Amino acid sequence: MYTKEELLNGLKTESFGKKVYIYDTIDSTNNCAKMLAGYGAKEGTVVIADYQSAGRGRQGRNWQSEPGKNLLFSIVLKPKLEVNQVGLLTYFIAVGTAIAVEEITSLPCECKWPNDLLMNGKKFCGILIESSFQNFSLDYAVAGVGINVNQKVFNHEIVKKATSLLIETNREFEIKNTFQKIMETLEMLNEDVKNNKFDRILNEWKKRTKLFGMEITISDNGTLFKGTAVDITYDGGLIISTDNKQSIHYSGDVIKIEQ
Ligand code: BTN
Repeated sequence: MYTKEELLNGLKTESFGKKVYIYDTIDSTNNCAKMLAGYGAKEGTVVIADYQSAGRGRQGRNWQSEPGKNLLFSIVLKPKLEVNQVGLLTYFIAVGTAIAVEEITSLPCECKWPNDLLMNGKKFCGILIESSFQNFSLDYAVAGVGINVNQKVFNHEIVKKATSLLIETNREFEIKNTFQKIMETLEMLNEDVKNNKFDRILNEWKKRTKLFGMEITISDNGTLFKGTAVDITYDGGLIISTDNKQSIHYSGDVIKIEQ
């Protein structure tokens, strides 16, 4: 793993990533970042690791990553948001990461609802946002990001769905450069978040999704909804249209897509 000096050398941000906790091995960077945020860590504080012994994904899944090959970090966010706006942070992190990765690789990223980034139809990045509230407002959120950067081999459970920047480009990437570019892009977009303006972020996300117009089935809290994906609402809900009725979903998983 890098030293602090190496990782921060050349980082062009005011706050994002400037305070960083670096680990060779940790259970989960999200656990550590949540603890730090609870103790008052500032917005932009980052926990980064080479390896997680208990890396977590959404919906109780785990996140596996070969030691030293990938970028695994969590960042503390403290925007002034109401409870019902917190889902917008997913779009913020997805878009910031997508723009940075596109610049580094020169390949387009696809945003998959709700939290994934794909390249050539396969997932290279997962995002896990965990939030803490006080009096119906956000106290802090931790955004955990796992990016498959230089991993070449994936286990049989995920091999058909997973990819890495190396696999898609045939090039190795410096973890440090990838990290710094993401910090810089996120800090730039965070100006919008601070001003409670999410239209640019949502538009950038919509430009990168292939979902609209598709017949999809999603699972939302165990209930299945089938219909045409229509749009994303101003507060981050996915609109599905079924027999002229519309439903709006703030969480879930797309389990089927038909043309
Ligand atoms: C998902 O696709 O389900 C989300 C995966 C999120 C993985 C990242 S890796 C860094 C951070 N720490 C964790 O334990 N999880 C997130």
